[in-house]
Amino acid sequence: MISSILLLIAASVLCTCATAIPTEETCASKEDTKTSLQRLAIANNDMAVNLYKLLSVNSVGNLAFSPLSISLAFGMLHYGVRGNTSAEFRTAFGYDAADLGDNLVPDTFNVLLNKLLREESKSGYVLQTANSILASRTLKLVPEFKREVGLFYKASVFEDDFENYPSK
Ligand SMILES: *[C@@H]1O[C@H](CO)[C@@H](O)[C@H](O)[C@H]1NC(C)=O
Repeated sequence: MISSILLLIAASVLCTCATAIPTEETCASKEDTKTSLQRLAIANNDMAVNLYKLLSVNSVGNLAFSPLSISLAFGMLHYGVRGNTSAEFRTAFGYDAADLGDNLVPDTFNVLLNKLLREESKSGYVLQTANSILASRTLKLVPEFKREVGLFYKASVFEDDFENYPSK
């Protein structure tokens, strides 16, 4: 299951690139960008509303969570899953609801991150991101995954021997 595979940490929150590794030069057309960004927004909203419904069931006070952080963290994980797990991700994170194809997910998060980080200077706010993947060395992450997820999601990938840490 998800939690046993990887421990992901993502703080909140990039030109779209159809299939290539993201670089500023390989941008898709503006129209594609708009459409995939809108789809990602629909997906994130879908996940956020469903999660809110779940979290609010037994909640009596205020409820605060960051849908973007959650969808970003699991977007990184989605890049590494296949088969049934991928299908579960598509339902849980709204990609199906938004008709957002698997290949568009990393591209579109890349567009979103670039956009948020680029607009910060002219909007007067400062947005800092700290996307990371912390994985057990026993998982033996595929090198392509480490490289590409880092580029698409502006993330660092760390591997460590969590098993050797004393439990509390
Ligand atoms: C994937 O899901 C299908 C349908 O639920 C199931 O029959 C199949 O056993 C699953 N495959 C794996 C590897 O879990």
